[in-house]
Amino acid sequence: MEIRLDKYLADMGIGTRSQVKQYIRKKQVQVNGSVPNGPQQKVAVGKDIVTFQGAEVDYAVYEYYMFCKPKGCVSAVTDNCHDTVVDYITDRKRKDLFPVGRLDIDTEGLLLITNDGSLAHNLLAPGRHVPKCYQAKVSGQVTEEDVELFSKGVEIGEEHPTLPAELKILSVEKEKGDDLWISQIELVITEGKFHQVKRMFEAVGKSVIDLKRISMGPLKLDDSLKPGEYRTLTEEELKLLCQ
Ligand code: URA
Repeated sequence: MEIRLDKYLADMGIGTRSQVKQYIRKKQVQVNGSVPNGPQQKVAVGKDIVTFQGAEVDYAVYEYYMFCKPKGCVSAVTDNCHDTVVDYITDRKRKDLFPVGRLDIDTEGLLLITNDGSLAHNLLAPGRHVPKCYQAKVSGQVTEEDVELFSKGVEIGEEHPTLPAELKILSVEKEKGDDLWISQIELVITEGKFHQVKRMFEAVGKSVIDLKRISMGPLKLDDSLKPGEYRTLTEEELKLLCQ
C-alpha cells in the first residue's frame, strides 16, 4: 500500500495535515534517510522508513484495543466535560479510534476500541444479535419469575418487548447490617437498546446498582485489566472477532 507522506504522518498523529506539511518543508522528516520531495511523495507502508525529528514513525492501518472502561468516562471520541474512553489509549498510533458501542458513564467493563469501521459494523448491526454479557449488582430479590420473564422478553416502553435474554442469579443476600436485599446476576442480551439492562430490571421493580460488561460476542474481558487499563487484542481474539 502506498500513501502520501503528509497523510502517513497525519494519520499517525504527528500533527494536522498543514502542520506536517510545515515539518516536511523544515526538513524534519526523512524517508529512507533522505529529505523527501514534498508532502505529496508516496510512501510504501511497511517498506519505506519514515522518521520525524530522527524518530521512526511506524504506520498502523488498523488498531484494536481491549479496554476495561472505568466509571466516570464517556463512550465517545470527544466530550466537553468528561474524559472519553479514547483518551485512555495513550499508546495509540492512530487518531481515528472510536469505541465499538457504548456503555453508560456509570457502567464499567469491556469496550473494544478501534478504527476498523467494518468490524464495528459487524458487531453492532442490529440483525447480527451479537450477545453481550453483563454482571450486575441489583437492589431487591431477583427471582426465578424474573428469569422466566427475561427469557421471553420484557416490556421496557419501546414498540416491541426486548428479545429473549438469559438471566442467571448468582446470589441473593441481605447486605451486612442492612435490611435490603441485594442480588448478584449475570445477564446476556443480544440487542443494545438505550440503558437496556437498567430498564429491564426497572420493568420488574428492581434497580441496577453496579453494572459491568464482561463479554461481547467472542471477546471476553481480560481479568487482569483493572478499570482504566487496556491492551492490544491478541491475534487469536482478532481472528475470533473477524469470523
Ligand atoms: N445496559 C445499560 O443499562 N447500561 C449500559 O451501559 C449497558 C447496557
